[in-house]
Amino acid sequence: MGNLISGKEVSKTIRSRIREEAQKLREDHGIQPGLAVILVGNDPASQIYVRNKQKACEEVGFHAFEYKLSENSTQEQLLDLIGVLNKDNKVHGILVQLPLPDHIDEQTVIDTISAEKDVDAFHPMNVGKIMIGNYDFLPCTPAGVMELIDSTGVEIAGKNCVVVGRSNIVGKPMAMLLLHRNATVTICHSKTRNLAEICAGADILVSAVGRAHFIKADMVKEGAMVIDVGMNHDEEGKLCGDVEFAEVEPKTSYITPVPGGVGPMTITMLMQNTLRAAQMKIGK
Ligand code: GUN
Repeated sequence: MGNLISGKEVSKTIRSRIREEAQKLREDHGIQPGLAVILVGNDPASQIYVRNKQKACEEVGFHAFEYKLSENSTQEQLLDLIGVLNKDNKVHGILVQLPLPDHIDEQTVIDTISAEKDVDAFHPMNVGKIMIGNYDFLPCTPAGVMELIDSTGVEIAGKNCVVVGRSNIVGKPMAMLLLHRNATVTICHSKTRNLAEICAGADILVSAVGRAHFIKADMVKEGAMVIDVGMNHDEEGKLCGDVEFAEVEPKTSYITPVPGGVGPMTITMLMQNTLRAAQMKIGK
C-alpha cells in the first residue's frame, strides 16, 4: 500500500523557508526578489499557470511583474521586452510562459534571457551547468521531484531509476539530477523497446509522458516509488497524471497523487530560483 507523497505539504514547508529568507534579504540588503512573467496570447492553461505564479509570489513576499502580450505580437517585440527586463534591477527572474505562438522561435527567446535571470534554467548556459553538476538554477519540475523523493528519506544512490520521457524541460534534466545523486538511470521514450519491462525494473519510476492511463500496474515493481509528472485530462475532463493510480498505488511504497503531487512543487522551485537570483546580487 503506497504512502502518498504530498507536494502540497512539502511545498508549504519550503515556501515558508523562502518567505523567511526573502524577508531577511529585504531587511539586511533592501532587496525584494522580483519575478517577471511574460505571457503571449490567450492559452487558458497558460493563463492559469501565470496566475498561480503570481499568487505564489505574493505568498512568499516577492514582487511579481506581469506582461501580457497579444497573440499576434512579433518576436521582435518580445525580444525587446526581454532586453528591457534584462537591465531592470528590480527584476531578478524572467519567465516566458511556454508554449509560444508558432511564429515565435522559442529557442531564440530563451537564448535572449540573461542567464543570471533565467529562473526556468532553460538557457544553454544553465543547461550546460546542470550537465556538469555545478548549477545556480535547478530546473523547476525535476528539482521539485528531487525534493519529493528526499521527503520520504529513501536513499537514491545505487537505485535503479527509470525516467519515462526525454523532454528538455523534464526528462533530460531529471535524469541528470538523479545521476548526480548516484542513481543508475535509464531514460525511456517513444521508441524504447520493452518499455513495460524496463519500467518494472525501477526502484524509482518517474513518468513524464503526458498521456493519461500510460503507466499500468504490470509496469511497476512491487515496493517501487512512483512519481507522476503528468498533467492530463481524462475522458471526463478531470485532471489526472500518467499513472493508472487505482491499480498502481497498492503495489508502491510511495506514490505522488495528481493533483497535489509534483504540480505545486514546480512553482515552489521557481520561487526558490527567484530567491537565488536575488541572493546572487549580494554575492551569495
Ligand atoms: N510551460 C509549461 N511548463 C513550463 C515551465 O516550466 N516554464 C515555462 N516557462 N513555461 C512552461
